[in-house]
Amino acid sequence: MSRYAETYADWQRAPENYWARAAEAVHWYKRWDRVFDSSRPPFHRWFPGGSVNSCYNALDRHVEGGRAEQLALIYDSPLTGKVERFTYRELRDLTARFAGVLRRYGLAKGDRAIIYMPAVPQAIVAMLACARLGVIHSVVFGGFAARELATRIDDCAPRLLITASCGVEPTRVIPYMPLVDEAIALARTKPERVIVLQRERLRATLNASRDVDWDEAMASAQPADCVPVASTDPLYILYTSGSTGKPKGVVRDNGGHLVALTWSMHGVYGVEPGEVFWAASDIGWVVGHSYIVYGPLFHGCTAILYEGKPVGTPDAGAFWRVIADHGVAALFTAPTSFRAIRREDPTGALLAKYDLRRFRTLFLAGERADPETVRWAEQKLRRPVIDHWWQTETGWAMAANCAGLGLLPVKHGSPTKPVPGYDIRILDDRGQELPPGREGAICVKLPLPPSSLPTLWNNDDGFVAAYLKDFPGFYKTGDAGFIDADGYLYVLARTDDVINVAGHRLSTGAIEEVLAGHPDVAECAVVGVKDALKGQVPVGFVVLNARARREEQDLVPELVQRVRDQIGPVASFKSAMVVRQLPKTRSGKILRGTMRRIADSEPWQMPATIEDASVLEGITAALKSAGYAR
Ligand code: COA
Ligand code: AMP
Repeated sequence: MSRYAETYADWQRAPENYWARAAEAVHWYKRWDRVFDSSRPPFHRWFPGGSVNSCYNALDRHVEGGRAEQLALIYDSPLTGKVERFTYRELRDLTARFAGVLRRYGLAKGDRAIIYMPAVPQAIVAMLACARLGVIHSVVFGGFAARELATRIDDCAPRLLITASCGVEPTRVIPYMPLVDEAIALARTKPERVIVLQRERLRATLNASRDVDWDEAMASAQPADCVPVASTDPLYILYTSGSTGKPKGVVRDNGGHLVALTWSMHGVYGVEPGEVFWAASDIGWVVGHSYIVYGPLFHGCTAILYEGKPVGTPDAGAFWRVIADHGVAALFTAPTSFRAIRREDPTGALLAKYDLRRFRTLFLAGERADPETVRWAEQKLRRPVIDHWWQTETGWAMAANCAGLGLLPVKHGSPTKPVPGYDIRILDDRGQELPPGREGAICVKLPLPPSSLPTLWNNDDGFVAAYLKDFPGFYKTGDAGFIDADGYLYVLARTDDVINVAGHRLSTGAIEEVLAGHPDVAECAVVGVKDALKGQVPVGFVVLNARARREEQDLVPELVQRVRDQIGPVASFKSAMVVRQLPKTRSGKILRGTMRRIADSEPWQMPATIEDASVLEGITAALKSAGYAR
């Protein structure tokens, strides 16, 4: 029998009491003055007056409370052939020491540090060491190119950049230092120092006047203690893609995040302290922040950091091997991982090699979980497969089948119901609430619960413009969908120019900026088209300018390389086509939605406002010759 309905009703009746009770699970140096402060709308704050430390809650508290010898972190890296284990005491000691390094270089509460690292334990140590001192970290995913890193450096002005000599991908080793050097050269704001972890695969040549060797700095550092920070102080900034080329700096506070994530470990994921929790993501994404690092450690679990892929490292049984080797109770990953596994091992034959007795639940998020993949996972694993929906902005699930409250019946294609804390409504263009079954903008009635972004970094106006302006009194999620008669949510598509490539959130606007920068390109459009493995991939359409002399077959590889160099390989931008004109409305708006529907072979209607209908014939022909629009 599920306790979901009564818990949701309990929250609705008295939200502040509900969150005050959840906050009891957290260590506070000083309790909050008020649970919730709405005195400066639309900027709401949780637990003002409270004083906490997120690193203390993640590590020291467990060391002092009897978990010192329990494993806090298992690093499993098929890409380098390493497995390393850290108890809570060991992770606390390393973190305290690295906090000493940060302090030695003058970092203190409120300063920023960028972490640009592969999936290595030192990346987690760096994040927690920042939290220990109240330094605000901003982790940048390793698959982003120098220009993306430079944009983030300029936006948050870090005093320090923490990196590694290289990342390891299945087919190649990626030297990070050239990317870091280029980013710093491009950035207007220069970090004072770069701390470099030298990895065995490829050592970097350091610049003596700027760079610091991680190991050398650690060898002589004095451990630093946790610094109490205000509940409302930022813990981190995480940049995410929006409609424009400029990423949005999502701010996460300390107190609300601690409370919500701690609740979610049991409430949403149904795991107990001491159990092993694995989020197969990257620390560069919100899933990595919340469920590789903070959530499991706040809750006293053992977290797994996996440096590998679902397939090819060495085979499609990699996930089952990790689950069996480390006794994983719950796995969280993106549906794309399961599509990749299923493609290589459709009968699930590799599963039989492993003992999965301790494994209870699979959680999927980051993109739409297609029912076919969910059914396959259910049949092969014979365990609940739970789709849940959230985004960088919230830091935890907005809709889920809450395992800790007792599962509700599953409806394939739906991430189930709003998590207590979220009042989800479907609105039409004028902000009117739509009845069950009708599709519209998915919005959350304000206020947002703890952990959700209080604002964007140094950009209160941007926060209001992006999320609050269109539907007064509501937070606009940017997703479209509907709620059925039983209250189940269905998330169908984005309402903006964000696309989701293998669970990675990207902006088509950012890719368009890069294409438009090519001297031969007069105009361009990028749309996300369906892909059997990655969910979506970006496809570019370019119109050449009169001076262009190049043939399509020469230009397209240049455009592909340009996106790889300026945004990064993670964009998976492999396909572009030259067209005579782009389809536009009479007011000049490019009809990207129509182009996408044609590419995906979906039914589409000629837009009434189209300037020249014949242009779509050229687009359709180009798509057909590239293998789309069947
Ligand atoms: N540093 C440098 N390059 C990186 C990188 C990193 N941290 N992560 C990915 N890349 C590169 C890859 O090498 C690849 O380069 P290529 O074009 O030369 O092959 C490119 O970026 C795209 O990577 P990826 O999206 O991982 O695709 P893939 O084709 O290598 O693998 C999957 C496909 C499905 C196996 C892979 O996308 C996957 O594991 N997805 C899981 C998604 C996930 O964890 N999402 C997080 C949100 S929950
Ligand atoms: P990110 O901020 O990178 O986590 O991406 C968030 C976006 O991914 C959401 O706004 C959705 O568009 C999409 N998304 C995440 N989880 C789901 C899900 N379970 N179902 C459908 N879309 C999802």
